[in-house]
Amino acid sequence: MGTPPFEEALNTRAPARRASGRRRCAVLARTVVLLFLAASAASAQKPGALVSARRGMAVSACERASAVGARIMREGGNAVDAAVAMGFALAVTYPSAGNLGGGAYIIIRMADGREAAIDARETAPAAATATMYLDATGAVLRNASLRGPRAAGVPGSVDGLLTALARFGSLDRARVLAPALELADAGYRLKKHEAMFLESQRPAFAEFPSTLRVYGASPHREGSRFRQPDLAAALRRIAREGRDGFYLGETAEYIVRQMREGGGLITHADLAGYSCIVRKPLHGSYRDRELLTMPPSSAGGIGLVQMLNILERHDIAGMGAGTPATLHLLAEAMRRAYADRWKYLGDPAYVDIPQERLVSKDYAGNLDTSIDAARATPSAAVRPGGPAREGGGQTTHYSVADRWGNAVSVTTTLNSICGGKCVVDGAGFLLNNEMDDFTIKPGEANQFGLVGSDANRIEAGKRMLSSMTPTIVLRGGAVELILGSPGGSTITTTVLQVLLNILEFAMPLDRAVSAPRMHHQWMPDSLYHEPRAMDRAAAATLAAMGHVLKERPAIGRVDAVYYHAASATWFGCSDRRGHGAAIGY
Ligand code: DON
Repeated sequence: MGTPPFEEALNTRAPARRASGRRRCAVLARTVVLLFLAASAASAQKPGALVSARRGMAVSACERASAVGARIMREGGNAVDAAVAMGFALAVTYPSAGNLGGGAYIIIRMADGREAAIDARETAPAAATATMYLDATGAVLRNASLRGPRAAGVPGSVDGLLTALARFGSLDRARVLAPALELADAGYRLKKHEAMFLESQRPAFAEFPSTLRVYGASPHREGSRFRQPDLAAALRRIAREGRDGFYLGETAEYIVRQMREGGGLITHADLAGYSCIVRKPLHGSYRDRELLTMPPSSAGGIGLVQMLNILERHDIAGMGAGTPATLHLLAEAMRRAYADRWKYLGDPAYVDIPQERLVSKDYAGNLDTSIDAARATPSAAVRPGGPAREGGGQTTHYSVADRWGNAVSVTTTLNSICGGKCVVDGAGFLLNNEMDDFTIKPGEANQFGLVGSDANRIEAGKRMLSSMTPTIVLRGGAVELILGSPGGSTITTTVLQVLLNILEFAMPLDRAVSAPRMHHQWMPDSLYHEPRAMDRAAAATLAAMGHVLKERPAIGRVDAVYYHAASATWFGCSDRRGHGAAIGY
């Protein structure tokens, strides 16, 4: 795994943007220089670096997984083969969010025009009920939806990855699972941050003997080899038998046993009955760009398109990046989209979502007219909501492109860091705690401060609402940008801002990804921002407009790929906020 060669000097035009005249020339010139400088600096392969390559690119939150993707493509596989191999590799090397026991959304856009949005979101077990996380008085049992087997939905990732491979891949299953198997079997040497991460989780892992056996048997140090034999065996069963090697037989038996031991609800019938859903991607547009993103059961795609539709009505480039006017407008668009999320969104198999209306340009026009350019609209005036609490979580996104122009955008999650912290004994993988993404009680905020409505109440077999927003942007029918992020409720607004940084502010990919971000989610009525998102004067202006500002150390963690058509070059960037890598070939 090394640094990909920089295959050419960049002496071509900058990414196109919507601007004209002298300003456009100046920005183009600046962009060319920045692209070149950033590309030159990339040989260090540090997170945040801009990496370029002629044939394809794999970007993820883990360097080993990116290397797996690049290797698969170098050996002739397409972007889907690579993405599937990366998904399984992340389950081995990125335990905070990579998974067999969680869920995923996969957006695929093949060069021949075929496309899919694979919904491999977890489902509520058949025995789940709307009140399962409430006590006899109706109060929320705080940890019940967050920790242990009872917090887990029926896992979807394995079926989703295998379905993507069967429909769009070109290599066989054993071949794409081989790198993950190797990593689990032979182990890998922990990097410093990985050893520190595992040690930091020790108190939580200690609640579950099965987890401690896998992740806490001995102290983790930089350079120590980390092997996962049970996980290797579970992967081998998938390689051999496909989905049956996970949802039936030995692995299923381990999962059900863990449920019995820990008061969980998932049964053999739940596992055997699980199926991902291959949906049509949600299409949106922003000026001359076309967008493919995730439809429900995610709220992300609808929210993203809604916000873009509002913003498209304004001269964002003219307003400038990071100015109070832009930040105010973003906050107001976000506030309105998140209010609608609360009211309308849930699993489309259970609730009627007025999707067409929500993503229509007309509706965005209505919302836009309610925005006061000088004053924050109090969230309570947009729609009634409830109190909120804040927590943390972990999810991961990866983006892949190949030499044929096929593109894959995957966001996958266990929900919280390491999900419910409980390893399935004998099978070596962590279970999700995705049940907490349901409305545990109307009006009560979840760990991301999101309040839920009845549309997202727990029902047997239902998919819990998500914010994950894997997205692909097309320009002239060809892939231009592949991106997504973790960050719970901030995922959609993170994707939005990186998009705007590229399409409106003509930033090269690395700057677009690293630029400071803000977030508003209607409730709580706060404008969150990273430390450098605004200077003092801008903060004072926004406060005077009625925004309640709250600083957060980091918002989102993007892994993105950009195609610069004029130079026929793929660029990759893994967010400086994490430890990932972009690897080209
Ligand atoms: O699906 C969702 O929206 C959440 N389960 C995602 C969790 C997450 O992003 C945590 N990450 N930092």
